Amino acid sequence: MRLYVGADLGTSSIKLMVCDESGKLVSEAKKPYELLLPKPCYSEQDPNTWWESFKQCLRQALLGHERDEIRTICVAGQMHGLVALDENNEVIRNAILWNDGRSDKETSYLNEVIKKDKLCDLTGNYAFAGFTATKLLWMKENEKELFKKIKHILLPKDYIVYKLTGEYSTDYSDASGTLLLDVKNKKWSKEMCDIIGINTSILPDLHESYAVVKTVSDKVADELSINKNIKVVAGAGDNASAAIGTGCINNNDCNISLGTSGTVFLSTDKFVDIREHPIHSFAHANGRHHLMGCVLSAASAYMWWVERILCSSYENEEKKLNALVGNNQILFAPYLMGERCPYNDTNVRGAFLNLSLNTSKEEMTLSVLEGVSFALNDCIELIRRKGFNIQNITLCGGGLKTPVWPKLLSNIMNVSVYKIKTEQGPAYGAVILGLVADKKFASLDEACSSLIEKELIETPDNNLVKKYANLYKNYQKCYERLK
Ligand code: XUL
Repeated sequence: MRLYVGADLGTSSIKLMVCDESGKLVSEAKKPYELLLPKPCYSEQDPNTWWESFKQCLRQALLGHERDEIRTICVAGQMHGLVALDENNEVIRNAILWNDGRSDKETSYLNEVIKKDKLCDLTGNYAFAGFTATKLLWMKENEKELFKKIKHILLPKDYIVYKLTGEYSTDYSDASGTLLLDVKNKKWSKEMCDIIGINTSILPDLHESYAVVKTVSDKVADELSINKNIKVVAGAGDNASAAIGTGCINNNDCNISLGTSGTVFLSTDKFVDIREHPIHSFAHANGRHHLMGCVLSAASAYMWWVERILCSSYENEEKKLNALVGNNQILFAPYLMGERCPYNDTNVRGAFLNLSLNTSKEEMTLSVLEGVSFALNDCIELIRRKGFNIQNITLCGGGLKTPVWPKLLSNIMNVSVYKIKTEQGPAYGAVILGLVADKKFASLDEACSSLIEKELIETPDNNLVKKYANLYKNYQKCYERLK
C-alpha cells in the first residue's frame, strides 16, 4: 500500500494524516502547542516546537505501518508568519505570526506613505499588519542587530520543508501573503524588497503547491527511520490547502474555514485586482488564483468564551441555542486580536453590546457565534461587491462541530451550506497535493472530482434571512463606535 502524508501546521496544533492512494484515511495524529502572547498584540511561536511536534506526529501516525511505503510528505500551514534564519540556519527569534499586530506603524507607513495603489501595482495587495513584509520592517526598526543577521526567511510550513530537505522553498499561495510577491506575475517583487530593505537572496525558491521540492535528506531519513526517496512536496498556505481539501477549485467556488481565524476563500480563474477593497488577492494552490477575506478570531473567539470565560463544555452551552436563532438582540464584536478584513485595525477590541438585566448566558453564547458570522459576512459582502455571485459555500474547520453555526452562516449570508462527506481541511488538501505530485492523478481538478463528495447541510430560510439582514445592519455600526 502506498502512503501519502499530509500535515496542517496550525496555530493551536499540528494535525497529520496518512492516506492510501485512493485518498482513504489510514491513520492520523495531532499535537497541540502553545500560542505565545508575550505582550498585547504580540503573537509568536518557536519554529523548533513545530519541527519537534511534526516529528512526534509522524512517528505516532506511522506506528504499525510500513515506512518504506510512504511516497510523499506535504505540509500546509498557517500563513504570513516570519521565520528568520541566520547564516548557520539557526532560527534568529520566535516566529512572528499571522495574528500579530505589532507592526501597526509599519503597516500605516506602507499604505499611506508608499501608498496602497503602488503596493497593489507591485504585489496585488495592500499591507496588513499580519503580513510578512510589515514584520520585517518592524524588525528593521526595533531589532536592528537581529535584522542584520537574517540570511533566509521562510513561512511556517516551509520551515518543516527546510528541515526535511535542506531546501529554502515556498509555494505561490503562501508567498502571496508575504506582500513581497508580484501575485499577478507569480514572481518576487524586487521593488517591494527594496522598499522593505531586504535583498531578494534571502527569499525562498518559488514552486507550484503540487511540485516536488526534493527528497528527504539522509539525516532526516535516518532519524525518522523512513525511506530516502520520499518526495517532499511544496505544499500550500492552510487556506489554499483547505480549499483543495473541500474541492473549492473552480471559478466562484467558495470555502469558509472556521478555525482559529475565519476565512472566506473564493476560487477564481484569473488574478483579480482588489483596489479599493480591503481583501486579499492571492495565488491558489491549483495554479490559478483566489480572493480571500480573513477575520482574526473565529472558532478561537468561541473557544475563549466557552472554555476560558464560562469554564464550561461545548455540549452544555449548545443545548438551548437553536431556539434563539433569529431573535437575539445581543451583539458581539469579535475583535479579540484586532481585525484584519475589512478594517485592518490592530487596536480595536472585542465587546458585547446591548446587555441588560434580562440577558441570559445563552444569548451571549449565541451572540459570539453570530458576531463571528457577521464578521465573515463583511468579507462575503466585499467579494460580492467585486461582482462575484456567491450562492453556495462549503464549510470546514473546527467550527463545523457546533451544530447551530452552519444555520447562522446560511441565513446571515443567504447561501446554501455544504460540507465534505469524508475527510476535509488543510491536511487532506496536502494529501491531495501529494497524490498529484506523485502522478496518481493527472491534475488537481481530476483528483478533487474523484476524491471529494459534498453534502448539503443547510439552506436559507426567508424569514431568518430578513431578521438577520436587520441585525447585521446593527452589527455593522459596532466597529465605528468601538474604534
Ligand atoms: C490568512 C490568515 C490565517 C492563517 C491562520 O490570511 O492569516 O487564516 O493562515 O492559519
